[in-house]
Amino acid sequence: MSAPRPSEPSEIPKRSGKYIRAKWRHFMLTVTANRLTGGELLRRHAAQRVEERAIEVCLPRWPIAFDGVRIAHLSDLHVGHLMTPERAVAVVESVAAIGADLVVCTGDVVDLDAEEAEPVLAALGRIAGPLGSLLVLGNHDHLDDPKRVVRVAEANGVNVLMDEAVMLGNNGARLHVGGVDWARTIRASARRVAKVWQKGRGLDLLLAHNPKAFVHAAKLGVPLTLSGHTHGRQFALRRRNPATPSFARRLNAGLYSRGESALFVTVGLGAWFPLRVNCPPEIAVLTVRRG
Ligand SMILES: [Fe+2]
Repeated sequence: MSAPRPSEPSEIPKRSGKYIRAKWRHFMLTVTANRLTGGELLRRHAAQRVEERAIEVCLPRWPIAFDGVRIAHLSDLHVGHLMTPERAVAVVESVAAIGADLVVCTGDVVDLDAEEAEPVLAALGRIAGPLGSLLVLGNHDHLDDPKRVVRVAEANGVNVLMDEAVMLGNNGARLHVGGVDWARTIRASARRVAKVWQKGRGLDLLLAHNPKAFVHAAKLGVPLTLSGHTHGRQFALRRRNPATPSFARRLNAGLYSRGESALFVTVGLGAWFPLRVNCPPEIAVLTVRRG
């Protein structure tokens, strides 16, 4: 008996309930809403310009050897219907001109289908700075096939941190960077952060899709955490300055500090619903200083 061809039903990957619900939500909220506006919703969304945001962070516990290091922080591309792979690749490739020391992506590379991540992960590998290119997964990366996202990223030289820690740098100057996989709650995030903290024997920088990871990271004294996930709620009454430290409880967008630890939450590049008001897509460029 011949083996089934790839197009036969037995080869179609089984979709999770979360994937199917997300697909329905996309159809109802995006496809239908766009039809009702005669295509205007998607036209306006696609016309938004990506802004480059410079943020300077001074941290008393940042390693002196990495004083002034520049980190390009991308997040939430949501490659798919609203962010085509071609547009995503162009956005990621534009980061090369920044000349950052380290490129990080804090998850939600894809909106729904893992296969759409492939060209953008290749681009993420191409633009790696001298300290490399790092990725953590977001909730949308888990909807379809997270293993495929990890496999393709690593094949392209992007280091995926799934509750892991790495040491970057050379000549004795080491930056301890940890990354946690997607976790929904503060408690689940804390468990992952504690695990990574142990593996790294302390951390200088933590990457976590969900900013809730900062609650435990700040308790441990991790100098800097970078996150995404919120999209800045995609709606604000007025434009905010992301470089202004916020003391709000909700870790929504911009720079936050607790004790000697800081969190930066980027509003990201994409969306699962095509409406952003006073919340344009951004590439954040952080200059991290000791001080
Ligand atoms: Fe997202």
